[in-house]
Amino acid sequence: MTTRVLTGINTTGTLHIGNYVGAIRPAIAASRNADTESFFFMADLHALIKCQDPDRIERSRLQIAATWLAAGLDPNRVVFYRQSDIPEIPLLNWILTCCTSKGQMNRAHAYKAALDANVENKEDPDAGISMGLYCYPILMAADILIFNAHKVPVGKDQIQHLEMARDVATRFNFLYAPADKPFFVMPEAVVDTTHEVLPGLDGRKMSKSYNNVIPLFEGGPKAIKEAIFSITTDSRLPGEPKDPDSTSLTAIYEAFSTQEEADAFRARLIAGLGWGEAKQELFDKIESEIGPMRQRYEELMSNPAKIEEILQEGAKKARAIAIPFMQQVTKAVGLRDFAIFGQTETKGEEKKKIQLPLFKQYREKDGKFYFKLTTAGGRVLLQSVAFDSGRDAGMAIAALKKDALAADPSIIRITATQEEAPKTAYLVEQTELAEVEAALNALIEAAAKKEEK
Ligand code: TRP
Repeated sequence: MTTRVLTGINTTGTLHIGNYVGAIRPAIAASRNADTESFFFMADLHALIKCQDPDRIERSRLQIAATWLAAGLDPNRVVFYRQSDIPEIPLLNWILTCCTSKGQMNRAHAYKAALDANVENKEDPDAGISMGLYCYPILMAADILIFNAHKVPVGKDQIQHLEMARDVATRFNFLYAPADKPFFVMPEAVVDTTHEVLPGLDGRKMSKSYNNVIPLFEGGPKAIKEAIFSITTDSRLPGEPKDPDSTSLTAIYEAFSTQEEADAFRARLIAGLGWGEAKQELFDKIESEIGPMRQRYEELMSNPAKIEEILQEGAKKARAIAIPFMQQVTKAVGLRDFAIFGQTETKGEEKKKIQLPLFKQYREKDGKFYFKLTTAGGRVLLQSVAFDSGRDAGMAIAALKKDALAADPSIIRITATQEEAPKTAYLVEQTELAEVEAALNALIEAAAKKEEK
């Protein structure tokens, strides 16, 4: 089976080589895997939560789209789209919002951090917190669940959101889907920690908030060079032996080189390579990978209509999946076509039937007849002993279905173990008589309801 991998990309701000090494490059490499089907999208509805500057929103989503395409994302291989081009996503968002408890959203880290900051600053606890921020995890769940993604590569800070997506999916499945036909698959977070932390100029994690980044495309080669030449190093002179781990230079070099090249680089630092020369080598290394991409980036940025076309194509592919899926979802919750009024209710019946416990009758190699009682989920509660004929087994089942545990003891008796008298069904290990009783009563009730109709 092909695995469906889905990644949402925040469209605020511009990107640095930490983003490239940690997220873009590995995601594009993974999208070339033959047995994966990749979905990449610009989370531009999410971006509205943090940014109310329309020009910035417009520019950022264009830059981010151009970046991914320039870095080698092949829109013919993957489904590449903008969240805002798929109206089915906000529709699903609302449906999921209606079956998610407020208490669950109260626990979301991003919301809680904002709340705690307000309390700390003696502000109103809700100050500056929009409903968008509060409901962020549900929109993210809709992003993921609408395409039934199996795997979702994210940073560590997003793990809780994935857990919430699973909770929301479970709740919806429980409310609206037959037990054996869940609407939503359970998505899994994939956290790749090996690449996650590229150190920045000062050795701390490369991050905009530390102001220690090497920009990816913005400012061109000049900006990259300037950043590299301000990487912190000690004051050892050319010819003096250097500790390769005393600076982030080495780790950044390694992110762009083969293992052999990285080893040679370290060896030369130990042998006295000057910092200035080392920085020039790092620049050349990065530039050899990023330079050709920058050229594509600039071409794309000067032709936004071309990017629009690519994204419209992507939206078409995404909606070819989302539209029929949402037709099922709306039907399931009761938003149905009046022309088929009343007909869909059979689905509800089917659902009830499937959720009932089940008697299974069968014949073994010994030629004897047996039955089992299982829960709706297939767990065995009760196992019969051997009957000489199918008719005897059938009668025993009928007796149980009729009178539950008051079944005629001359036909059947439920005992705790297999060792007891013949003509018996016994409890399977770990089950309680009360579970059997509940299962039988459910069957008896369902039969009575059917009779009423
Ligand atoms: N919240 C994610 C982030 O901050 C971005 C995102 C939005 C996302 N929707 C998603 C990621 C769906 C994965 C799947 O990085």
